Amino acid sequence: MPHILSAKQFSKGDLERILSLAREMEDDLKKGRVKKVLQDKIIACIFFEASTRTRLSFETAALRLGAQVISAENAFENSSASKGETIEDTVKILCNYADALIIRHPESGIMERAAKVAAKPLLNAGDGTNQHPSQGLLDLYTIKKELKRLDNLKIGFGGDLLKSRTVRALLDFMRLYENNKFYFISHKELALPRKIIQELAESGVQFIETENLEGTLPELDIIYLTRVQKERFSDPQEYEKVKDLFIFKKDHLKILKPEAIIMHALPKINEIEKEVDQDSRAAYFREAENGLYVRMALLCYALGV
Ligand code: CP
Repeated sequence: MPHILSAKQFSKGDLERILSLAREMEDDLKKGRVKKVLQDKIIACIFFEASTRTRLSFETAALRLGAQVISAENAFENSSASKGETIEDTVKILCNYADALIIRHPESGIMERAAKVAAKPLLNAGDGTNQHPSQGLLDLYTIKKELKRLDNLKIGFGGDLLKSRTVRALLDFMRLYENNKFYFISHKELALPRKIIQELAESGVQFIETENLEGTLPELDIIYLTRVQKERFSDPQEYEKVKDLFIFKKDHLKILKPEAIIMHALPKINEIEKEVDQDSRAAYFREAENGLYVRMALLCYALGV
């Protein structure tokens, strides 16, 4: 069963196939000739956490390809999870109704449990701080489209690296390609967990950790910014302490390479000054658009059509 649970499960060959399919989807959609290859399918979108891009682009992707969609947003309240039903029971039931399940949940690692009982493809739309494979794929697609390569890149990840599932997913993809170097730019309160750093070091991945954004920016091909996620803090005071530690300012544009790009999975709050949006290197709205093409490809991949 081709569940899509983590960026770690993909080979470079899988990625080439999905990116090439996404390119076809983009071309077909722009030329108004998308084939309704999912015409007889029903896709279930069950979101236990808020979402704009992931849920609505997956739903749009399904509809564009001719599928029908059933969904539960705010599923802790609007599904029988509110009565205490387990994720396993919910998934077993939904597999009787739909041909594929797309689930977002705040608990890291819960998709492994869900996948054990899923008789239909299960797509992880983000589980806690753990993984967000469709976001990683659309980020990969964006990098390929904007910079024409996936190797020999200097990639800075900035902001909240401690809790960012989008950083984990993109890092897992980009480390598959030759000679990429990673710069983890954050204050120590928001640094990548030591377990991940240790694993990268043991695997021979090229990286540095730094708090110095200004000193690092001129070297980078990509600066990938992140939001400090209020919803992951149990203590609001802890969030207040760190929420404004990392801000990409309009003056930072002056020291960024002319051909570099600025990425962000969105939503952004105040970690990017609004004037930055006008700069052609700000790729984050194009990145979100690419989510539709990639999720169309991913649905076809998961459903084997
Ligand atoms: N990037 C992303 O996951 O956005 P949403 O939370 O809006 O789905």
